[in-house]
Amino acid sequence: MIRIAIFGFGAVGRGVAKVLMDRRRMEKLIGEYRVVAVADSKGSIVSECVNLKEVLEIKEKKGRLPKGMSVEEIIDEVEFDVALELTPTNIDTGEPGLTHIKKCLKKGSHVVTSNKGPLVVAYKELSKMAEKSGVKLMFEATVGGAMPVIKLIKRDLAGNKILSIKGILNGTCNYILSKMEKEKLPYRVILSEAKELGIAEANESYDVEGIDSAAKLVILANSLMDMDVKFEDVEVRGITNITPEAFEIALEKGYTIRLIAEVDGSTLRVSPKLIPLSNPLCIHGTLNAILIKTDLAKEVFVIGRGAGSTETASAVISDLIEIYSCEVSR
Ligand code: HSE
Repeated sequence: MIRIAIFGFGAVGRGVAKVLMDRRRMEKLIGEYRVVAVADSKGSIVSECVNLKEVLEIKEKKGRLPKGMSVEEIIDEVEFDVALELTPTNIDTGEPGLTHIKKCLKKGSHVVTSNKGPLVVAYKELSKMAEKSGVKLMFEATVGGAMPVIKLIKRDLAGNKILSIKGILNGTCNYILSKMEKEKLPYRVILSEAKELGIAEANESYDVEGIDSAAKLVILANSLMDMDVKFEDVEVRGITNITPEAFEIALEKGYTIRLIAEVDGSTLRVSPKLIPLSNPLCIHGTLNAILIKTDLAKEVFVIGRGAGSTETASAVISDLIEIYSCEVSR
């Protein structure tokens, strides 16, 4: 019986809870499970078998969970096998996710996270801790949402040397730029629409200043290209200076503008780039895409939804299944 703790009950946490309520779908894949704790930033519910339907109703009605144990108290006092760490990203400190993940790994529980902060700040340290404790640290949801990237490269492209990764890693910027391309409106007007879609970061400057893309690039470089880089190593330029006029000039010449993140084994860069209209990276709306270059497989191109509640839940759930599917098939 797998005991699951959920830390963070925003759009992603609620999306994951809804999938976990579908026992018929999930038990085939991971075996029997129960959720033993759910916490948000204000409160928590801890029980032998948390009723997720009730927790979702409480959260919807009251906007928060009832006062209860803090996440740290839950980690110290409640027994669980896997933590789903879904709290919001802080790129500077990695907190509160960093402390949560360290405590869980030390305690010997697996961790699945959608939080970029802890991985940007301390990927090497956390992966060593997981190895030492003999548990898994999974983070598919941190880059590209539902778009398969981390497991695709680690598992399906295993044995390849990753030479470079280039792509669009921020759905909010892509939504804004592709709308600017069509409607010639200034970015601020479209940003408020993107916020309504619920895909922008709590701190929207993370999106439009390229910070979110840079954080994802650091995660890819450290976890898939055997690099040891920090956020400060990325040259970052966002989209705040892009004007509707810039699009007019680009379009006349057969180009559009997209925020491109790229790493080639030595340099990491995020910047707006001219992209030919016929290029596969000329994607629209909230989509993400990446072009992976490897020594054996050569080029692999992936496209998918990089943000959203069900989309990010898809990545979290696939990590959970990756941890437990071997045990089910044994
Ligand atoms: N704000 C991010 C985006 C969410 O727009 O892509 C997913 O990390």
